[in-house]
Amino acid sequence: METALLNIIYLIASVGFIIGLKMLGSPKTARKGNLYAAFGMLLAILGTIFIYPKTAHIEVPGFVYILIFAAILIGTVIGWGIAVKVEMTKMPELVSFFNGMGGATAALIGLMEFSHNVGHTSKMFMIIAGLVIGSISFSGSMIAWGKLSGKLRKPVRLPKYNILNTLLSLVIIAVAGYIIATQVANPVYIYVLFGLALLYGVLFVLPIGGADMPVVISLLNSFTGLAAAFGGFLYDNMAMLTGGILVGSAGTILTVAMTKAMNRSLSAVIFGAFGEGSAAAGSGSKIQGNIKEAGPSDAAILLNYANKVIIVPGYGLAVAQAQHVLHELEELLTKKGIDVKYAIHPVAGRMPGHMNVLLAEANVDYDKLVDMDDINNEFANTDVVLVVGANDVVNPAAHNDPSSPIYGMPILDVENAKNIIVNKRSMKPGYAGIENELFYNPKTSMLFGDAKAALTKVVQELKNM
Ligand code: TAP
Repeated sequence: METALLNIIYLIASVGFIIGLKMLGSPKTARKGNLYAAFGMLLAILGTIFIYPKTAHIEVPGFVYILIFAAILIGTVIGWGIAVKVEMTKMPELVSFFNGMGGATAALIGLMEFSHNVGHTSKMFMIIAGLVIGSISFSGSMIAWGKLSGKLRKPVRLPKYNILNTLLSLVIIAVAGYIIATQVANPVYIYVLFGLALLYGVLFVLPIGGADMPVVISLLNSFTGLAAAFGGFLYDNMAMLTGGILVGSAGTILTVAMTKAMNRSLSAVIFGAFGEGSAAAGSGSKIQGNIKEAGPSDAAILLNYANKVIIVPGYGLAVAQAQHVLHELEELLTKKGIDVKYAIHPVAGRMPGHMNVLLAEANVDYDKLVDMDDINNEFANTDVVLVVGANDVVNPAAHNDPSSPIYGMPILDVENAKNIIVNKRSMKPGYAGIENELFYNPKTSMLFGDAKAALTKVVQELKNM
């Protein structure tokens, strides 16, 4: 009876995870999706605390319940406190931190369950796999968090770090294999393995440059999912298993999508050989030519007489918090009968979906957001492209400068439009640290200034027309 009830609870929880994940695919449903998944998790936790011990005939003393709920309370208060305060631009580091906690939990399961399961080869395999992957995910995520929060600025590369990392991974496999093969009961072995895996996580992430950190975080996220899935196998817990597999596969899909959008190969990610040649290096050809400056009224005139306008948002829009005034501008143009759309580059901003979240915050109609692949052939028949705080994602060097660190990265082909207005504060480069020949294009007008201030002036001018 209890087993059936627990299975039903886990089934509902798993359905909650799956529906929640599906709903995260669109900003319209994402908030609700998050709640569905959280509800599923709450059900799974309560089922495990109250019903699982009965099915497994475990007598849980009262003080253990007190400890469990005290831990839940402390975790909830801390997690809630951090999450409500965090700024949108700091979201990647928060994700990294929380992901690290997931990895640590999976590792702790391994440390705790080791001594109870000596002699069970298959269970020992789950324990060791969860421990190793969870530990790597934990220490790697902490380093990623340190890098993103600016505490660890520079990539640290030990001499021959690639060989060192490969050797270390072989040692980890050897120790893990030894423990599983011999079923050795001495806990020293498991702590040595734990230490080696932690060290590997640190050495794996340390050499990687900041620009590639979101890819690493996504990869570590899939590791945590995998580690949790091993825990699910170990405990024969369906909710933990499905949850882990979903996190693992979603993390893997996101990693692949991001490496594609940032023009990095996954093998380069795994072997820790990337980060060079991107943000840190900032090479590429030197550009010569003149730029054309435009004031808010020039920009307003160009926009006012257009039939079709495409807005390209980038990181600077988030920095300036100009999404609301940008939406006002878009509505004003739409009222004048102008066709307005937003072009969304997959790695615009500093985290996956950054622009979608930002624009959703300002209530921009989701149907107006068009992905890069769908909008790229529309630029040629567009009268004005308005680039707001974007730089690398519209840099033509990705197409025509083989010496550029972003060469080969898919970009928004804004240079095909009839007129281009670029709003940013200066001629300073973006994340990749390279110049942008788009700014020197005769079709481009530079509207200098903070995005919020500049767009507010353009809106004012438009209202007077
Ligand atoms: P960036 O290339 O970083 O350019 C942003 C531009 O915004 C800067 O050139 C800056 O120029 C301008 N800006 C900053 N503050 C501004 C303000 N208050 N008002 C107006 N402009 C402002 O941004 P992007 O085009 O969105 O490209 C994203 C880059 O980040 C890519 O290289 C991508 O690979 C990388 N990246 C992406 C992610 C994800 S997953 N999205 C994660 C990490 C890194 P000024 O200083 O002159 O104003």
